[in-house]
Amino acid sequence: MTPEDLDFLLTAAGRALLEFADGLDFSRTQVVASTEAVRRVDPQHAAAAIDVVTARARAAGRIRGADRMVLTDEAVQQATAWPVAALRALRLSSRVVHDVTCSVGAELGELVRTADRVVGSDLDPVRARMAARNVPEALVCVADALAPPTRDAVIVADPARRSGGRRIHDPAQLSPPLPALLEVVGGRDHVIKCAPGLDTSVLDHRGEVEVVSL
Ligand SMILES: C[S@@+](CC[C@H](N)C(=O)[O-])C[C@H]1O[C@@H](n2cnc3c(N)ncnc32)[C@H](O)[C@@H]1O
Repeated sequence: MTPEDLDFLLTAAGRALLEFADGLDFSRTQVVASTEAVRRVDPQHAAAAIDVVTARARAAGRIRGADRMVLTDEAVQQATAWPVAALRALRLSSRVVHDVTCSVGAELGELVRTADRVVGSDLDPVRARMAARNVPEALVCVADALAPPTRDAVIVADPARRSGGRRIHDPAQLSPPLPALLEVVGGRDHVIKCAPGLDTSVLDHRGEVEVVSL
């Protein structure tokens, strides 16, 4: 999704295109006809609109309120499932929290239910804009997780784990790299989500580890 696609989708015409696409069936037998129908209405923005409505469908049950969100399929695949995010949010009740890899705001949506104040940031400006639109209760900006613009907030991070579709075992290969992130947030309260399979033996981590399985 380009910044221009997102500009358009946030206009009245863009919302109308999303509403039209949302009413179509993108299951395997109907995907060609439905794609054609969206292209006939707006060839330039059809791909982005279809990405959003199919991502919403994929996110059902995984992200609360996804049917009203602007998101992409890739972001949904990376998103924390809401029961996991809600569990973490409960532990951060009444705190000031900064999600430094907020993507389109799946975790922010859970954090704003419990935390005192919530800041979100992401290096990807399109995702950050989506998060700002999806979770207006949070303050969202574009920032590098390795230089977070808050001082005292509890840091929440969920580094990207997949590269070229393959799982990563080396913490330094995550984005942002886990050793560098730990160095930056080590002096503050922090929570970092890690996928199973990560070789944590190479990290000098002495804090709590919580294992959550769905
Ligand atoms: C796994 S996703 C986070 C998903 C999020 N927890 C959710 O539930 O939707 C990782 C995010 O980290 C962002 N990212 C990668 N490197 C970053 C960095 N150095 N600073 C800030 N964000 C970064 C990516 O753009 C991506 O949106």
